[in-house]
Amino acid sequence: MATKTSIVFLTMINLTLFITCSATELPQLRDVHRPCKKFTVYLHETRYNGSNLENATSAIVGNPVWGNKTNFATTFGNIFAMDNPLTAVNNSHAPPVGRAQGFYVYDNNKGLGTWHAFSIMLNTTTYKGSLTLAGENPIMMKTRDIPVIGGTQDFFMHRGIATFETAYVDGFISYGIKITVKLYECWRLLE
Ligand SMILES: *[C@@H]1O[C@H](CO)[C@@H](O)[C@H](O)[C@H]1NC(C)=O
Ligand SMILES: *[C@@H]1O[C@H](CO)[C@@H](O)[C@H](O)[C@H]1NC(C)=O
Ligand SMILES: *[C@@H]1O[C@H](CO)[C@@H](O)[C@H](O)[C@H]1NC(C)=O
Ligand SMILES: *[C@@H]1O[C@H](CO)[C@@H](O)[C@H](O)[C@H]1NC(C)=O
Ligand SMILES: *[C@@H]1O[C@H](CO)[C@@H](O)[C@H](O)[C@H]1NC(C)=O
Repeated sequence: MATKTSIVFLTMINLTLFITCSATELPQLRDVHRPCKKFTVYLHETRYNGSNLENATSAIVGNPVWGNKTNFATTFGNIFAMDNPLTAVNNSHAPPVGRAQGFYVYDNNKGLGTWHAFSIMLNTTTYKGSLTLAGENPIMMKTRDIPVIGGTQDFFMHRGIATFETAYVDGFISYGIKITVKLYECWRLLE
């Protein structure tokens, strides 16, 4: 018991020191004026509604007891898996430049919001590689900032912000999102 108490006490001292130091002596702020890389893609999603299997790019894979796998009227609790095409222009029929694969969950019980966790895989002459995005997407806001937490190949250890803006909505079934990616940390692996 005595040992436990001292450990807790020591931990508290350490935490206090750490918080004090990081606030006063070790500012880790780094100023940036502009992104090191920047691009825009459009994501196009068509949800599986029970009879559009050939065109569906997403589906409910988990639902609460008050919903089902094709019911979009209830939102909270639904988990979608997605494999969506990305295009360079605001047109779902344009040639794809990559894919957005991952999942999202409706996690706002009082409003409309999702937590998205997915990867953007680009395969263009400009960029080849993936970026991983993870964060809250408050759908009703005009623009939403989602953290870009890492990347591979041309995006080796890159980080930044992806701004979502709804491009179009077609019923509950299809929608498009304009995604503007601005990377503020870009590393290059030396051979
Ligand atoms: C599913 O969506 C397709 C394409 O929009 C539509 O033709 C079809 O009627 C829908 N099915 C159901 C069950 O809502
Ligand atoms: C799939 O999309 C094509 C082209 O837009 C359309 O002609 C077809 O009716 C769609 N099929 C279903 C099942 O929604
Ligand atoms: C899912 O819920 C919708 C809306 O309540 C209903 O129309 C549909 O028949 C349900 N589907 C299944 C498979 O239970
Ligand atoms: C990327 O594009 C090239 C040229 O179109 C193609 O040969 C290659 O298979 C693609 N790679 C991936 C991972 O899709
Ligand atoms: C995307 O295109 C649709 C028409 O398909 C248009 O209504 C919408 O304003 C466009 N959005 C953006 C962000 O360009």
